[in-house]
Amino acid sequence: MTMVPAPGDPLGLIRNAAIGIQDGRIVRVGRRTELAGTRATEVVPLGGAFVTPGLVDCHTHLVFGGTRAAEHAQRRAGASYEEIAAAGGGIASTVRATAAASVTALLAQSRTRLHALMRGGVTTVEIKSGYGLDPASELRLLNVIRTLARSEPVRIEPTLLALHALPPGADREAFVERVIEDLLPTAARLGLATSVDAFCEGIAFTPEETARLFEAAAAAGLPVRLHAEQLSNSNGAALAAHHRALSADHLEHLDEAGARAMAESGTVAVLLPGAFYTLRETRVPPVDLLRRHGVRIAVASDCNPGTSPSLVPQLAMNMACNLFGLSPEEAIVGMTRNAALALGLEQEVGTVEPGKAADLAVWRIAEPAELGYWLGLLPERRIFGGQDSLP
Ligand code: NIG
Ligand code: FE
Repeated sequence: MTMVPAPGDPLGLIRNAAIGIQDGRIVRVGRRTELAGTRATEVVPLGGAFVTPGLVDCHTHLVFGGTRAAEHAQRRAGASYEEIAAAGGGIASTVRATAAASVTALLAQSRTRLHALMRGGVTTVEIKSGYGLDPASELRLLNVIRTLARSEPVRIEPTLLALHALPPGADREAFVERVIEDLLPTAARLGLATSVDAFCEGIAFTPEETARLFEAAAAAGLPVRLHAEQLSNSNGAALAAHHRALSADHLEHLDEAGARAMAESGTVAVLLPGAFYTLRETRVPPVDLLRRHGVRIAVASDCNPGTSPSLVPQLAMNMACNLFGLSPEEAIVGMTRNAALALGLEQEVGTVEPGKAADLAVWRIAEPAELGYWLGLLPERRIFGGQDSLP
């Protein structure tokens, strides 16, 4: 499944294929018979397995302390995400647990989750900060992400989730000011983030605060993305599109104007069915609207302690099909080609094409649709930069 689309063939399927890899990059892709004369120092037969690009998980919050297992019980007893947050739980509770954890402990538990995603076929993953809130704590988390990026065979895109929650007791205006004047420029100067994110929502930050952050991000030379329209419609998607965001994520409450704006700016719609499922939401994102406007759709795990404690990336593809009505093809494109686009990495990853990184996942399945069918399928092999590397 090259993910290089052709008419009637969204997956760019080549049967009986061979992939040539040199120095960590893909150099040839074609039918085995066409590549028969090629000299190779090593031939690795895959015995009729299906090969996809390595999965791209374009929305995670996997660096955090503690868990939120207790909230899982509260939700079963009927409490909503907003009610739990208003009572001091939610993001604030993970912020406390994260502050209480040493860097060593944070690294250890985050690495365990990262390994789980990698075992699931992920070769590129976006990781957000956002459980630090104040500048020093956010920079500490971005440094943990950097340490992971330098020590693990996986491509990590670090995102500064600059406006996630207001610290308890903080003055709104002063907090936003400090994020914009101090945290954002510092993270940009230290090269600790490649994009900037915010949570634009009734229980989080307003469109006006988000817009100020986005202007500052542009001034610092960083692209933006946004948690938009998850629990209500704040016109976040249109705001994100106006700032030429790489992606707008969640989108359960997206309206037509938002979809049109996203199509015009090329902003990718990142669907997060794990969060929808965990919060037992009932309103599904308007997938038909996205299709009609030609908005590119990506799918991600949203691995985070509160709303998507998700560790098997393929399950997000299954949920995108079962809960949101994506076709298996759309779900697979959503965790490869379109997810690469959501990260601005479309020149580097997301398809099996000459010139791209040799990042692959090998699946022991009989047909592509199985990637949308199983609940928690793991690949047989994972190849990162041409190297076999299942953790
Ligand atoms: O993607 N919506 C905000 N951020 C996360 C959840 C964060 C949390 O509850 O810890 C999300 O769903
Ligand atoms: Fe999120």
